Amino acid sequence: MVIPKPKSVVFEPGEFVLKAGLLSINTEIFAFAHEAEMLKQALADRCGIEMSSANGSEIVFRQNESVLGKEAYRIEVDEDQILVEASGYAGAFYATQTLVQLFAQGKTIPCQTIVDRPRFRWRAFMLDACRHFQSVEHVKRHLDMMALFKLNTLHWHLTEDEAWRIEIKRYPKLTEVGSKRNPDEPDATGYYTQDQLREIVAYAAERHINIVPEVEVPAHTTAAMAAYPELTCEGIPIPIEGVGLRTFTQHKGRCIYCASKEESFRFIENVLDEVMDIFPSEVIHIGGDERPDGIWSKCPRCSAMMKEKGFETESALQHWFMEKVNAYVLSKGRRSMAWTPTLDHGVPEGQIVHDWFYGHVAEAVKQGHEVVNSKDYFTYLDYPNYPGRQKPDWMGDLPVERVYEFDPVSDGVPADKEDLVLGGECSLWTEFIEDDDFDEAVYPRMMVFAETVWSPKEGRDWPEMAERLTAFEPWMNKMGIEYAKPVGTKPVQTKKNAKVETTMKPFGSYLPECAFDGKFTRSFWSEKPPKEGDTLTITFERPLKCSEIRIYTGSENAPGDTLDEGTVQISANGQIFFSVGKAAGRQSSVNLGEKPLMAIRLVVDTDQKGRLAIQEIVVD
Ligand code: ACM
Ligand code: ZN
Repeated sequence: MVIPKPKSVVFEPGEFVLKAGLLSINTEIFAFAHEAEMLKQALADRCGIEMSSANGSEIVFRQNESVLGKEAYRIEVDEDQILVEASGYAGAFYATQTLVQLFAQGKTIPCQTIVDRPRFRWRAFMLDACRHFQSVEHVKRHLDMMALFKLNTLHWHLTEDEAWRIEIKRYPKLTEVGSKRNPDEPDATGYYTQDQLREIVAYAAERHINIVPEVEVPAHTTAAMAAYPELTCEGIPIPIEGVGLRTFTQHKGRCIYCASKEESFRFIENVLDEVMDIFPSEVIHIGGDERPDGIWSKCPRCSAMMKEKGFETESALQHWFMEKVNAYVLSKGRRSMAWTPTLDHGVPEGQIVHDWFYGHVAEAVKQGHEVVNSKDYFTYLDYPNYPGRQKPDWMGDLPVERVYEFDPVSDGVPADKEDLVLGGECSLWTEFIEDDDFDEAVYPRMMVFAETVWSPKEGRDWPEMAERLTAFEPWMNKMGIEYAKPVGTKPVQTKKNAKVETTMKPFGSYLPECAFDGKFTRSFWSEKPPKEGDTLTITFERPLKCSEIRIYTGSENAPGDTLDEGTVQISANGQIFFSVGKAAGRQSSVNLGEKPLMAIRLVVDTDQKGRLAIQEIVVD
């Protein structure tokens, strides 16, 4: 069983049996010595198979120019030998990843011939390092998994409204100001030094993964503008208020580069110089998505420039902006890629169109542009795979079965233009993905995605894929991956296994349990405004001592849906409740002085006009 499924596997009679401890790798030529060494390490780390370097020829690597394609490989498993052939290093490496998967299932492998090569050359995972920050070790561990499933591109989203994550030596405030957030959210603060970035680039390269860095222009730039506000249209300091994930976003509306200031472009160019020095990638992503309308036309200089250039829309001005940045990237011998919101003004020379929402893959290739498809409906891994996750209105669900329906060549792409579809990307935006949610969001959906961009489209069979996913689960767990169940649903885990009940009907999957799950990123949300006397009750498995109860109502998505007036009650037996204090607004706290209690109840004291979100109830 291999994920992604190889192009062709032909079984033959007989089996290869690995003699414990005797495996050695014989690179007939030294060309694949590095890949062979990686295999040796992976077999030890992932399969518990230690190999001696003693003489032997159980696995033979051979360069063979007739295996066409730099990522293609051939594996022939005979009774006494495994022969790996490829024409290029990447192909030899992918053969090793297939072998690791086979040996993970046991030391006996049926005789077979595998002939394999990818359907697409762009097989990417996009990681948002900004909304939540991942450590160097975390990124490396994930790169290992990408390699195991033959993804070859990490699109790294390194700048955002909420944070700036790349050290830029010329502009130290980018990280001094732009990488810090709420100290209570350790995985929301941080940045990568240039040394760390180089280390990660090298680690990825060893695994045949190219890292495409993304520096967003002209919008999604609040963190950068908070550091250098002179680059905005208004040019005035941006107050950094509040704490947490949304620190900057209340000012998001005006925190974009002023298009009329030459300094904006000098700044972007200087940043890109350092970025291109760190990342050897041919492709540099320059953002381009979701610029709020109405800022540039309010700026006297930007609007004068629009008039002078005959631009009727801000979108035309944005196109001009992207052209300028693209030209700079081209002048450095690289090419740009952008989340292309519209094709109305054409596409800058050589730029790769990145479609995530608008469905213009077919249109772009008809115009002759290269395209990467990351249609959110099939590939946005931040969309919950289970009910019970917090879902803002813009966010859909993404059950694993639907990922399997993804085809980068979307409807309407003419057969003779299919080559312009470079491939696909699955994306992990991290507004709602803390470190401990990461694995379940990514695995196994990323593995299914990998199959849609590597394997032939013909012969997809969901029950068979689901079987392979289930078979991989114990191994993935053993490697420390908290793998989501590929089928079925999962209840929300509450703190202390408490039972949470309410008289209010929950809205969609904003279940009552989300009010007591230890996470501020999911909340309970009532479908309708609550009435006087409505309650939410938390009952513990056994009595506990508690000195303080804190109640946070409203939520990131529904900051106005707070509690108007309420009463906090406790119970020593779960049946008789008495009042211990009042609660109202975004945050309330009740001191108990170490009372033993079995249950906590929040009672709504008035008919509310608005709905009620309970972000979290904290018991200390
Ligand atoms: C995006 O999801 N805004 C590219
Ligand atoms: Zn301006």
